[in-house]
Amino acid sequence: MVSTVERIPIGSDHAGFELKAVLVEELRSLGFEVEDVGTHSTASTDYPDFAHPVAHEVEVGEAQRGVLLCGSGLGMSYAANRHHGVRAAVAWSPEIAKLAREHNDANVLVLPARFLDAETAKAILRTWLDTPFAGGRHQRRVTKIEAT
Ligand code: RB5
Repeated sequence: MVSTVERIPIGSDHAGFELKAVLVEELRSLGFEVEDVGTHSTASTDYPDFAHPVAHEVEVGEAQRGVLLCGSGLGMSYAANRHHGVRAAVAWSPEIAKLAREHNDANVLVLPARFLDAETAKAILRTWLDTPFAGGRHQRRVTKIEAT
């Protein structure tokens, strides 16, 4: 039988390093295979160095979805959203994560690590993982994102 375990790439800069470890454990406990692209310490780093590898995997279809963390979530989202077909959403609450999936079909979750506690971050992650895209009128709008 072929394994159907989904592999999720995850990356952060130094500001997201500690919360990334929490989410790596959460993803593993939920049964996902996790690819931690770094960073691997609290030493100062540059967020695009981790946003691009994760977003690239989603862009080329090597991963269905990915997770990124930085201090505000903004730098990671700017870099990830440069990739064709990537819809990286900054979510700071489970409600935003739900909307990012239902309305925007977000395939990369970005967490503002300096503004979240571990329990909230885990709740955001679980909501994003479990919420399907609503389609319908939202599909039309998402399709227009690529039509530049
Ligand atoms: C790092 O100090 C910080 O600038 C970074 O984590 C992120 O918030 C950038 O958008």
